[in-house]
Amino acid sequence: MTRSPAEIFRTLEELRKIHIPTERDREVRAQLERLLRVDNQGNLLPEPVLTGNLETRGIALIESAGGGKTTAVRRTLENTAALGPDPDTGNSRFLEMQVPSPATLKSLGLAILAELGFKDILSKPTIWEIWSIVRHQFRLKGIVVLWFDEAHDLFQSGSHSDIDEMLKMIKSLMKKETGVIVIMSGTERLSEITSFDAQVSRRFTKIVPSDLVQGADNEVIEGVIAKYAKGAGLKPDLKDNVAGRLIHGSRGRFGRAIETTIFAIERALRDGDQSLRADHFAEAWGAQEGCSWDENVFVAADWASLRLDEGSEKYEAARNARVKPSRRRR
Ligand SMILES: Nc1ncnc2c1ncn2[C@@H]1O[C@H](COP(=O)(O)OP(=O)(O)OP(=O)(O)O)[C@@H](O)[C@H]1O
Ligand SMILES: [Mg+2]
Repeated sequence: MTRSPAEIFRTLEELRKIHIPTERDREVRAQLERLLRVDNQGNLLPEPVLTGNLETRGIALIESAGGGKTTAVRRTLENTAALGPDPDTGNSRFLEMQVPSPATLKSLGLAILAELGFKDILSKPTIWEIWSIVRHQFRLKGIVVLWFDEAHDLFQSGSHSDIDEMLKMIKSLMKKETGVIVIMSGTERLSEITSFDAQVSRRFTKIVPSDLVQGADNEVIEGVIAKYAKGAGLKPDLKDNVAGRLIHGSRGRFGRAIETTIFAIERALRDGDQSLRADHFAEAWGAQEGCSWDENVFVAADWASLRLDEGSEKYEAARNARVKPSRRRR
């Protein structure tokens, strides 16, 4: 039975809504729960726990591109009832921020203001004014969590003093007067935070999810592929170690494995096939990587020895290009 383009589109939309719980979700949730106060019944409150030094603490989620960081943090924040809209004002209690590139104290402050709804500031405010409005708005809107996604870009400005000032400002936002919990998610470069500012680093619990492991995670990945195939009404045919090949082709990144699975399903649906097979994965992955057929992990007999580093850089560059233009407009 061939499906119409509209049916295929709808099926793919449904597949993209599937969420597979991972250690990222569990860890981010567990750490966030430690940082929020609870009432007598044990319900989380939209109030941060303050340490002995009267400041909040934060979370840093560090993982390579395509692991699943953004998904895990966004889903956790959205599913935390205490951070839902303030019943009086309707304002969300958390703010999601894409770190502007290049990030300086000024561009960061202006980006936060834009996210708070101050998009077209006509006068030229000083850095001091920008941050004083930020603090005021945080208090007014009852913001409890400030999340910097792609937080590694905080360390890209090149100027040590810019980075230093931003980290100082983040530290000050965590003090009682503003008292926001800060979450940072980003790639390994985010771990450089320790070398820039040990004090900031100490305030953050680090979550470093592990990559998928060849062999140990094959069964899990087979289950994931089967779930997605079922969602599309396809029969999974995973012989020839499709799961192992997918782990290798995804460089062990969970999110990338899911993206490739959805692409492969799209191929199968467009071909009018009833099953999801290695050749669908080969076509989908090959199109993403732009590699020759004999270098394709779903085709090559010696797939495990194929070196994929260059492709990984290309993938990260392509994702960056997708994510960043909208930020630069701010
Ligand atoms: N737990 C999950 N269940 C289902 N799909 C997921 C899950 N985690 C991630 N994905 C999917 O994997 C892809 C990559 O995830 P995400 O964008 O969250 O990764 P990331 O680590 O933030 O990557 P980057 O560093 O490039 O920003 C997305 O298409 C996302 O929908
Ligand atoms: Mg991301």
